[in-house]
Amino acid sequence: MLAKCLIRNYLRQPLDLAKRYGKGSWAVVTGSTGGIGAEYCKQLAKQGFNLVLFGRNKDKLEELDAKLKKDNSQLQTQIVVADFAEDNSAKFYEHLYRKIQKLDISILINNAGAVIPEFFENCKLESAISCSNINMAGPAMLTRMFINDFLKRTSRTAIINVSSLIRVVPSPYIKEYSATKQFLTLFSYYLQDNYGDKIDIQDLNPAVVTTNLSNHQTGPDTITPEHCVTSSLRDLGQEFCTVPAMIHSFIGQMLFVMNKFMKPLYRATFVNDYEMKILRAFYEQHRNKK
Ligand SMILES: NC(=O)c1ccc[n+]([C@@H]2O[C@H](COP(=O)([O-])OP(=O)(O)OC[C@H]3O[C@@H](n4cnc5c(N)ncnc54)[C@H](OP(=O)(O)O)[C@@H]3O)[C@@H](O)[C@H]2O)c1
Repeated sequence: MLAKCLIRNYLRQPLDLAKRYGKGSWAVVTGSTGGIGAEYCKQLAKQGFNLVLFGRNKDKLEELDAKLKKDNSQLQTQIVVADFAEDNSAKFYEHLYRKIQKLDISILINNAGAVIPEFFENCKLESAISCSNINMAGPAMLTRMFINDFLKRTSRTAIINVSSLIRVVPSPYIKEYSATKQFLTLFSYYLQDNYGDKIDIQDLNPAVVTTNLSNHQTGPDTITPEHCVTSSLRDLGQEFCTVPAMIHSFIGQMLFVMNKFMKPLYRATFVNDYEMKILRAFYEQHRNKK
Protein backbone atom coordinates (compact mmCIF):
# COMPACT_ATOMS: atom_id res chain seq x y z
CA MET A 1 0.00 0.00 0.00
CA LEU A 2 2.76 2.43 1.04
CA ALA A 3 4.92 1.45 -1.95
CA LYS A 4 1.97 2.03 -4.30
CA CYS A 5 1.37 5.42 -2.74
CA LEU A 6 5.03 6.44 -3.06
CA ILE A 7 5.25 5.30 -6.68
CA ARG A 8 2.03 7.12 -7.55
CA ASN A 9 3.04 10.38 -5.93
CA TYR A 10 6.76 10.55 -6.62
CA LEU A 11 7.73 8.33 -9.57
CA ARG A 12 4.82 7.97 -11.96
CA GLN A 13 4.79 10.01 -15.17
CA PRO A 14 1.53 10.83 -16.96
CA LEU A 15 0.65 9.15 -20.28
CA ASP A 16 0.39 11.20 -23.45
CA LEU A 17 -3.38 11.63 -23.22
CA ALA A 18 -3.83 13.34 -26.60
CA LYS A 19 -2.12 10.36 -28.28
CA ARG A 20 -4.08 7.83 -26.21
CA TYR A 21 -7.56 9.31 -26.76
CA GLY A 22 -7.08 11.24 -30.02
CA LYS A 23 -5.72 14.75 -30.49
CA GLY A 24 -8.51 17.23 -31.10
CA SER A 25 -11.14 14.92 -29.64
CA TRP A 26 -13.57 16.32 -27.07
CA ALA A 27 -13.71 16.13 -23.28
CA VAL A 28 -17.03 16.63 -21.50
CA VAL A 29 -16.62 18.24 -18.08
CA THR A 30 -19.63 18.56 -15.79
CA GLY A 31 -19.41 21.16 -13.03
CA SER A 32 -16.89 22.95 -15.28
CA THR A 33 -17.49 26.28 -13.52
CA GLY A 34 -16.31 24.98 -10.13
CA GLY A 35 -12.81 24.70 -8.66
CA ILE A 36 -11.90 21.19 -9.80
CA GLY A 37 -13.96 21.27 -13.03
CA ALA A 38 -12.41 24.53 -14.27
CA GLU A 39 -8.96 23.10 -13.57
CA TYR A 40 -9.74 19.97 -15.64
CA CYS A 41 -10.77 22.29 -18.49
CA LYS A 42 -7.59 24.34 -18.20
CA GLN A 43 -5.27 21.30 -18.18
CA LEU A 44 -7.10 19.38 -20.93
CA ALA A 45 -7.27 22.44 -23.21
CA LYS A 46 -3.51 22.81 -22.79
CA GLN A 47 -3.07 19.18 -23.92
CA GLY A 48 -5.03 19.81 -27.13
CA PHE A 49 -8.52 18.56 -26.25
CA ASN A 50 -11.66 20.47 -27.23
CA LEU A 51 -14.20 20.96 -24.46
CA VAL A 52 -17.88 20.57 -23.75
CA LEU A 53 -18.50 22.84 -20.77
CA PHE A 54 -21.44 21.68 -18.66
CA GLY A 55 -22.82 23.99 -15.98
CA ARG A 56 -26.02 25.46 -14.63
CA ASN A 57 -25.11 29.14 -14.92
CA LYS A 58 -24.80 30.56 -18.46
CA ASP A 59 -22.86 33.68 -17.42
CA LYS A 60 -20.29 31.67 -15.50
CA LEU A 61 -19.93 29.28 -18.44
CA GLU A 62 -19.39 32.12 -20.92
CA GLU A 63 -16.82 33.70 -18.64
CA LEU A 64 -14.93 30.40 -18.36
CA ASP A 65 -15.20 29.87 -22.11
CA ALA A 66 -13.70 33.30 -22.87
CA LYS A 67 -10.84 32.75 -20.42
CA LEU A 68 -10.00 29.31 -21.83
CA LYS A 69 -10.04 30.60 -25.42
CA LYS A 70 -7.83 33.53 -24.50
CA ASP A 71 -5.20 31.07 -23.25
CA ASN A 72 -5.67 28.48 -26.04
CA SER A 73 -6.22 30.00 -29.48
CA GLN A 74 -7.03 26.66 -31.20
CA LEU A 75 -9.57 25.55 -28.62
CA GLN A 76 -13.12 24.70 -29.70
CA THR A 77 -15.85 24.60 -27.09
CA GLN A 78 -19.51 23.92 -26.72
CA ILE A 79 -21.51 25.20 -23.77
CA VAL A 80 -24.33 23.10 -22.31
CA VAL A 81 -26.52 24.69 -19.64
CA ALA A 82 -28.06 21.98 -17.48
CA ASP A 83 -29.14 21.85 -13.88
CA PHE A 84 -28.95 18.22 -12.72
CA ALA A 85 -31.00 19.02 -9.63
CA GLU A 86 -34.00 20.03 -11.71
CA ASP A 87 -34.71 16.90 -13.67
CA ASN A 88 -33.66 13.28 -13.78
CA SER A 89 -35.99 12.08 -16.52
CA ALA A 90 -34.87 10.07 -19.54
CA LYS A 91 -36.07 12.95 -21.77
CA PHE A 92 -33.80 15.44 -20.00
CA TYR A 93 -30.70 13.29 -20.58
CA GLU A 94 -31.68 12.39 -24.16
CA HIS A 95 -32.00 16.12 -24.86
CA LEU A 96 -28.50 16.80 -23.44
CA TYR A 97 -27.03 13.90 -25.39
CA ARG A 98 -28.54 15.08 -28.70
CA LYS A 99 -26.83 18.47 -28.27
CA ILE A 100 -23.36 16.91 -28.42
CA GLN A 101 -23.73 13.45 -29.91
CA LYS A 102 -22.04 14.44 -33.21
CA LEU A 103 -18.78 15.41 -31.49
CA ASP A 104 -15.92 12.93 -31.21
CA ILE A 105 -16.07 12.66 -27.43
CA SER A 106 -13.20 10.74 -25.86
CA ILE A 107 -13.31 11.78 -22.18
CA LEU A 108 -16.29 12.12 -19.85
CA ILE A 109 -15.61 13.73 -16.47
CA ASN A 110 -18.49 13.34 -14.04
CA ASN A 111 -17.35 16.09 -11.71
CA ALA A 112 -20.44 18.15 -10.75
CA GLY A 113 -21.31 17.54 -7.12
CA ALA A 114 -23.17 19.07 -4.21
CA VAL A 115 -23.37 18.73 -0.43
CA ILE A 116 -26.36 19.33 1.82
CA PRO A 117 -24.78 20.81 4.93
CA GLU A 118 -27.57 19.88 7.34
CA PHE A 119 -28.32 17.12 9.81
CA PHE A 120 -30.28 14.40 8.05
CA GLU A 121 -33.36 14.76 10.24
CA ASN A 122 -33.57 18.50 9.41
CA CYS A 123 -32.76 18.50 5.73
CA LYS A 124 -35.43 19.66 3.30
CA LEU A 125 -36.81 16.87 1.13
CA GLU A 126 -36.11 18.92 -2.02
CA SER A 127 -32.41 19.28 -1.11
CA ALA A 128 -32.08 15.55 -0.41
CA ILE A 129 -33.55 14.77 -3.84
CA SER A 130 -31.27 17.36 -5.52
CA CYS A 131 -28.22 15.83 -3.87
CA SER A 132 -29.01 12.37 -5.24
CA ASN A 133 -29.87 13.77 -8.67
CA ILE A 134 -26.57 15.66 -8.94
CA ASN A 135 -24.22 13.14 -7.34
CA MET A 136 -25.76 9.85 -8.52
CA ALA A 137 -28.35 10.18 -11.33
CA GLY A 138 -26.25 12.72 -13.30
CA PRO A 139 -23.08 10.61 -13.60
CA ALA A 140 -24.99 7.34 -14.13
CA MET A 141 -27.27 8.77 -16.81
CA LEU A 142 -24.54 10.65 -18.71
CA THR A 143 -22.39 7.52 -18.71
CA ARG A 144 -25.35 5.52 -20.02
CA MET A 145 -25.86 8.06 -22.83
CA PHE A 146 -22.23 7.85 -23.99
CA ILE A 147 -21.19 4.28 -23.27
CA ASN A 148 -22.16 2.80 -26.65
CA ASP A 149 -20.35 5.57 -28.56
CA PHE A 150 -17.29 4.99 -26.39
CA LEU A 151 -17.32 1.25 -27.06
CA LYS A 152 -17.48 1.90 -30.83
CA ARG A 153 -14.50 4.30 -30.91
CA THR A 154 -11.28 2.94 -32.37
CA SER A 155 -9.10 4.85 -29.91
CA ARG A 156 -9.52 4.32 -26.20
CA THR A 157 -11.80 6.58 -24.19
CA ALA A 158 -11.91 7.61 -20.54
CA ILE A 159 -14.48 8.18 -17.82
CA ILE A 160 -13.44 9.95 -14.62
CA ASN A 161 -15.91 9.85 -11.75
CA VAL A 162 -15.06 12.40 -9.08
CA SER A 163 -15.98 10.60 -5.88
CA SER A 164 -14.66 11.58 -2.45
CA LEU A 165 -12.51 10.09 0.27
CA ILE A 166 -15.31 10.83 2.72
CA ARG A 167 -17.15 7.85 1.23
CA VAL A 168 -15.03 5.51 3.39
CA VAL A 169 -16.98 6.56 6.50
CA PRO A 170 -20.50 7.75 7.24
CA SER A 171 -19.29 11.32 7.44
CA PRO A 172 -20.75 13.45 10.22
CA TYR A 173 -23.23 16.14 9.20
CA ILE A 174 -23.15 15.23 5.49
CA LYS A 175 -24.00 11.52 5.61
CA GLU A 176 -26.02 11.51 2.40
CA TYR A 177 -23.03 13.06 0.60
CA SER A 178 -20.77 10.16 1.71
CA ALA A 179 -23.47 7.71 0.67
CA THR A 180 -23.90 9.24 -2.81
CA LYS A 181 -20.12 9.18 -3.32
CA GLN A 182 -19.99 5.52 -2.25
CA PHE A 183 -22.60 4.86 -4.94
CA LEU A 184 -20.40 6.63 -7.49
CA THR A 185 -17.36 4.57 -6.51
CA LEU A 186 -19.29 1.28 -6.75
CA PHE A 187 -20.60 2.42 -10.11
CA SER A 188 -16.99 3.01 -11.23
CA TYR A 189 -16.07 -0.53 -10.07
CA TYR A 190 -18.91 -1.87 -12.21
CA LEU A 191 -17.67 0.11 -15.24
CA GLN A 192 -14.10 -1.03 -14.66
CA ASP A 193 -15.10 -4.71 -14.42
CA ASN A 194 -17.24 -4.60 -17.55
CA TYR A 195 -15.56 -2.09 -19.86
CA GLY A 196 -12.04 -1.67 -18.42
CA ASP A 197 -10.50 -3.42 -21.44
CA LYS A 198 -11.75 -0.65 -23.79
CA ILE A 199 -12.32 2.35 -21.54
CA ASP A 200 -9.98 3.86 -18.93
CA ILE A 201 -12.12 4.28 -15.82
CA GLN A 202 -10.95 6.41 -12.92
CA ASP A 203 -12.50 6.52 -9.46
CA LEU A 204 -11.00 9.72 -8.01
CA ASN A 205 -11.08 10.09 -4.22
CA PRO A 206 -9.85 13.43 -2.90
CA ALA A 207 -10.18 14.50 0.73
CA VAL A 208 -10.39 18.26 1.19
CA VAL A 209 -9.66 20.40 -1.89
CA THR A 210 -9.69 24.19 -1.55
CA THR A 211 -12.86 25.10 -3.48
CA ASN A 212 -16.32 26.51 -2.90
CA LEU A 213 -17.60 23.12 -1.84
CA SER A 214 -15.17 22.95 1.08
CA ASN A 215 -15.76 26.61 2.01
CA HIS A 216 -12.27 27.30 0.62
CA GLN A 217 -10.66 25.46 3.55
CA THR A 218 -6.87 25.58 3.61
CA GLY A 219 -4.43 23.75 5.85
CA PRO A 220 -1.80 21.03 5.90
CA ASP A 221 -4.38 18.37 4.95
CA THR A 222 -5.89 20.28 2.01
CA ILE A 223 -4.77 20.43 -1.62
CA THR A 224 -5.41 22.88 -4.46
CA PRO A 225 -7.63 22.04 -7.45
CA GLU A 226 -4.44 22.16 -9.56
CA HIS A 227 -2.80 19.46 -7.41
CA CYS A 228 -5.98 17.37 -7.50
CA VAL A 229 -6.37 17.49 -11.29
CA THR A 230 -2.65 17.05 -12.05
CA SER A 231 -2.70 13.85 -9.96
CA SER A 232 -5.91 12.63 -11.61
CA LEU A 233 -4.55 13.14 -15.15
CA ARG A 234 -1.19 11.63 -14.15
CA ASP A 235 -2.94 8.43 -13.05
CA LEU A 236 -5.47 8.27 -15.88
CA GLY A 237 -5.00 5.05 -17.84
CA GLN A 238 -2.56 3.76 -15.23
CA GLU A 239 -4.58 3.36 -12.03
CA PHE A 240 -8.29 2.79 -11.49
CA CYS A 241 -8.87 3.93 -7.91
CA THR A 242 -6.75 6.93 -7.09
CA VAL A 243 -6.23 9.34 -4.21
CA PRO A 244 -4.57 12.58 -5.32
CA ALA A 245 -2.17 13.19 -2.40
CA MET A 246 -0.13 11.20 0.15
CA ILE A 247 -1.76 13.06 3.02
CA HIS A 248 -5.21 12.17 1.69
CA SER A 249 -4.29 8.45 1.47
CA PHE A 250 -3.16 8.63 5.09
CA ILE A 251 -6.35 10.42 6.22
CA GLY A 252 -8.50 7.85 4.40
CA GLN A 253 -6.79 4.89 6.08
CA MET A 254 -6.94 6.56 9.47
CA LEU A 255 -10.64 7.41 9.21
CA PHE A 256 -11.52 3.92 8.04
CA VAL A 257 -9.66 2.22 10.88
CA MET A 258 -10.93 4.65 13.53
CA ASN A 259 -14.53 4.31 12.42
CA LYS A 260 -14.34 0.53 12.34
CA PHE A 261 -12.31 -0.24 15.45
CA MET A 262 -12.18 2.89 17.64
CA LYS A 263 -15.64 4.41 17.48
CA PRO A 264 -15.37 6.58 20.64
CA LEU A 265 -12.08 8.09 19.45
CA TYR A 266 -13.58 8.58 15.97
CA ARG A 267 -16.50 10.50 17.46
CA ALA A 268 -14.38 12.48 19.90
CA THR A 269 -11.92 13.67 17.28
CA PHE A 270 -13.12 13.57 13.70
CA VAL A 271 -16.86 14.01 14.23
CA ASN A 272 -16.57 16.82 16.76
CA ASP A 273 -13.83 18.56 14.86
CA TYR A 274 -15.71 18.33 11.59
CA GLU A 275 -18.97 19.60 13.01
CA MET A 276 -17.20 22.47 14.76
CA LYS A 277 -15.51 23.46 11.49
CA ILE A 278 -18.86 23.52 9.70
CA LEU A 279 -20.58 25.50 12.42
CA ARG A 280 -17.70 28.00 12.52
CA ALA A 281 -17.87 28.45 8.72
CA PHE A 282 -21.65 28.92 8.96
CA TYR A 283 -21.35 31.63 11.63
CA GLU A 284 -18.54 33.37 9.74
CA GLN A 285 -20.61 33.46 6.57
CA HIS A 286 -23.59 34.75 8.52
CA ARG A 287 -21.49 37.44 10.21
CA ASN A 288 -20.01 38.55 6.85
CA LYS A 289 -23.51 38.96 5.37
CA LYS A 290 -24.56 41.40 8.14
N1 LIG B 1 -13.73 20.34 -2.63
C1 LIG B 1 -13.56 19.23 -1.95
O1 LIG B 1 -13.08 19.22 -0.81
C2 LIG B 1 -13.94 17.92 -2.57
C3 LIG B 1 -13.50 16.74 -1.97
C4 LIG B 1 -13.86 15.53 -2.52
C5 LIG B 1 -14.63 15.48 -3.67
N2 LIG B 1 -15.06 16.65 -4.22
C6 LIG B 1 -15.91 16.55 -5.42
O2 LIG B 1 -15.33 17.31 -6.45
C7 LIG B 1 -16.35 17.68 -7.38
C8 LIG B 1 -16.16 19.14 -7.76
O3 LIG B 1 -16.39 19.96 -6.63
P1 LIG B 1 -15.54 21.26 -6.29
O4 LIG B 1 -14.76 20.96 -5.09
O5 LIG B 1 -14.85 21.75 -7.51
O6 LIG B 1 -16.70 22.24 -5.83
P2 LIG B 1 -17.31 23.53 -6.54
O7 LIG B 1 -16.24 24.52 -6.81
O8 LIG B 1 -18.44 23.93 -5.66
O9 LIG B 1 -17.85 22.97 -7.92
C9 LIG B 1 -19.01 22.19 -8.02
C10 LIG B 1 -19.48 22.23 -9.45
O10 LIG B 1 -20.70 21.49 -9.56
C11 LIG B 1 -21.69 22.33 -10.17
N3 LIG B 1 -23.03 22.05 -9.71
C12 LIG B 1 -23.52 22.17 -8.45
N4 LIG B 1 -24.81 21.89 -8.45
C13 LIG B 1 -25.17 21.61 -9.72
C14 LIG B 1 -26.38 21.28 -10.36
N5 LIG B 1 -27.52 21.26 -9.70
N6 LIG B 1 -26.39 21.04 -11.69
C15 LIG B 1 -25.24 21.13 -12.40
N7 LIG B 1 -24.05 21.46 -11.87
C16 LIG B 1 -24.03 21.70 -10.54
C17 LIG B 1 -21.29 23.73 -9.72
O11 LIG B 1 -21.91 24.72 -10.54
P3 LIG B 1 -21.97 26.27 -10.08
O12 LIG B 1 -20.62 26.85 -10.46
O13 LIG B 1 -23.09 26.83 -10.86
O14 LIG B 1 -22.20 26.28 -8.60
C18 LIG B 1 -19.79 23.66 -9.90
O15 LIG B 1 -19.43 23.82 -11.25
C19 LIG B 1 -17.68 17.37 -6.69
O16 LIG B 1 -18.21 16.20 -7.21
C20 LIG B 1 -17.28 17.16 -5.25
O17 LIG B 1 -18.16 16.30 -4.59
C21 LIG B 1 -14.73 17.86 -3.72
